[in-house]
Amino acid sequence: MKTTALAPANIAFIKYWGKKDENLRLPANSSISMNLSEATTVTTIEFSKRFSKDQVQFLGEETSEKEIRRIIDQLDRLRKIAKKDLKAKVVTKNNFPKSSGVASSASGFAALTIAAAAALDLKLSEKELTILARLGSGSACRSVPRGFVLWEEGSSSETSFAKSLYPENYWDLRDILLIVKKPAKKVGTTEGMEGVNTSPFFTSRLLSLPVRIEKILTALKKKDFDLLGQITEEECINMHAVMMTQNPPLFYWNGVTLDIIKEVRNWRDENLPVYFTIDAGPNVHLICEAKNEKEILNKIQTLENIEKVIVNKPAQGAHLITKNLF
Ligand code: DP6
Repeated sequence: MKTTALAPANIAFIKYWGKKDENLRLPANSSISMNLSEATTVTTIEFSKRFSKDQVQFLGEETSEKEIRRIIDQLDRLRKIAKKDLKAKVVTKNNFPKSSGVASSASGFAALTIAAAAALDLKLSEKELTILARLGSGSACRSVPRGFVLWEEGSSSETSFAKSLYPENYWDLRDILLIVKKPAKKVGTTEGMEGVNTSPFFTSRLLSLPVRIEKILTALKKKDFDLLGQITEEECINMHAVMMTQNPPLFYWNGVTLDIIKEVRNWRDENLPVYFTIDAGPNVHLICEAKNEKEILNKIQTLENIEKVIVNKPAQGAHLITKNLF
């Protein structure tokens, strides 16, 4: 009854920001993402009569009570479906440091859900697994299917699930993640998006999304890189405009973030096709085609205040592996 799963983080071209149902984690809109090969979580879980309580251990990281509670709530959901009340030992490891500012909830809840479902011998479809992962953390549902993924917003728990649009080898893109120095103190995504309705721009964001979603779907279908990049940037700026106009306002960008944005635009003026996107933190994801990776990495050398550069390829979804962490 001991199993281990590996799950990738993902980067969204169309973002998830705001829920229409907080308890069910139903998103305000559909979103589209790509799994990241070099930002992954591995989780081993064992359910056993030997354990008198649930134990959760993060290797190489501090954890808060709140995070542990969220993990145990997810175990409870799975135990309820399996009709088993065995306690569990969970050990989890991210291959990217928490201080890197990469959100670990997507890869974390995807790995936990896949490992726990297998350990409890639950025979669930990929769709059902994405629904369960979503209840742990919304963006985690996008880390379950492979490659390029659509999360359908749906109107109920059963209809809000993620599915693969294309496998990871469909399009040789890169996500070059720039971890900036001195990240600002973070407001978590769950808490941050609670204020989404206070932004006067949120309604207009929702109205403008269907067109952007269609354009991203077209860009993926036709492998139209400029369309993908332009809409991804437009979408990122749109989400951050909502964040910045919430009450209280959320400024996830810092000065380095803006410096990078400016440089990316200069590089494009020099005919280097590269676009940026940013999540709930100051780090910048540069999206490019594989053929331009080297030139962009050279350009990055000229940037200041970059702590770390992580080059991601499109990746498969969450899956079981044989190497256990304990
Ligand atoms: C800005 O999935 O972390 O990264 O469902 O509350 O756990 P919860 O939120 P989470 O939100 C991710 C927000 C984002 C945009 C995105 O990845 O789509």
